[in-house]
Amino acid sequence: MDWFAAPHALLSHLPVATGLLLPWALLAAQRPGRGIRAWWTVSRYLGWLGLGGLLLSLLSGFFSLPGLGLVPAQRVSLRLLGGAGPESLLLRHVLLGSCSLLLGGAALWAMNRPRKEHQSLGLLALVLGLLWSVLLVLTGDRGHGLAHLQKRTAAPPVPAAVPVPTAPTVRVPTTARDPEAQAPLRALDYAALQPVHPDPVKSLAHGGRWIRAWVSPEAAAAYRAGGTLPLGTLVVLSSQEDRWGRPGPEVGPLYALEIQAAGPSLTFYWPRVPAERRREVAGADRAYWRGGDTQLEACRTCHAAGPADPAKRSRWRPARRND
Ligand code: HEC
Repeated sequence: MDWFAAPHALLSHLPVATGLLLPWALLAAQRPGRGIRAWWTVSRYLGWLGLGGLLLSLLSGFFSLPGLGLVPAQRVSLRLLGGAGPESLLLRHVLLGSCSLLLGGAALWAMNRPRKEHQSLGLLALVLGLLWSVLLVLTGDRGHGLAHLQKRTAAPPVPAAVPVPTAPTVRVPTTARDPEAQAPLRALDYAALQPVHPDPVKSLAHGGRWIRAWVSPEAAAAYRAGGTLPLGTLVVLSSQEDRWGRPGPEVGPLYALEIQAAGPSLTFYWPRVPAERRREVAGADRAYWRGGDTQLEACRTCHAAGPADPAKRSRWRPARRND
């Protein structure tokens, strides 16, 4: 069933292409006279192709329904038809598709009626065929709208749920004992710390991103000097993805280091990993590693003692424009 449902987007190109091509063949087939048979054949060929493609698309679409999670929760009523929600879009798509199957059958019947050698394909075939083409294109258009809506809503809901650092109480009770179970609240509040870098610096150690470090005010001097950090110090690297050698608009992960009584503790938080970067985090669309997480092992090659070697700090800033 999976195999069959997957090619819906692919198969639906057949009926849509028919909707775009058929009108021209039907119009050309309206001229009575010798040699018109060739256009009959083109129209009939397109008609059969369109109907076959439509059948396959309807079947594959039907099988892909459960995976879409779009089947309306409420009873399907005609009032839903006018709505703007995804269920209404789906209903319109399905209705248009089903109507075009009926109309396609009628159009194909009209196109295949026996004609005399010199006759045109007939006005009935033209009218039904044109109506069918309109329906096919409309169905495809609704499907396109639906697919893109799917993509939009498929984004993980995490960004909206980024917690307000000062209000950990809104979280569900299970996290009450550990307010940072879902997100590193204190690291997310990094802008309350003292910035070390006035401009972002390019850090090859952290995926070539542009970073800025933020340190607890009481430890700022020690951090700048590369000395030992006092207990309770929090250092956060905010990051931006590189675009064309400069800091781009896309935010990258947060890196945090906290000096706890039990030793330094690293945190890596990337609430929404863009699809093209998931390779870096074993395919996940969200990464939140902290404490003893084994995925932090790679970080420990440079952060074995907690803070990285101050001599290795990045200094590569984008050139300033003075105009
Ligand atoms: C190749 C070595 C290297 C690796 C791997 C690395 N870092 Fe760093 N890290 C550094 C360096 C160097 C700095 C200093 C800032 C800079 O220049 O990038 C730093 C800075 C930091 C800081 C600010 C505190 C400090 O040590 O200066 C944090 C927090 C941090 N890294 C977290 C991480 C995390 C989390 C990972 C793993 C996802 C990681 N780092 C992987 C080298 C590394």
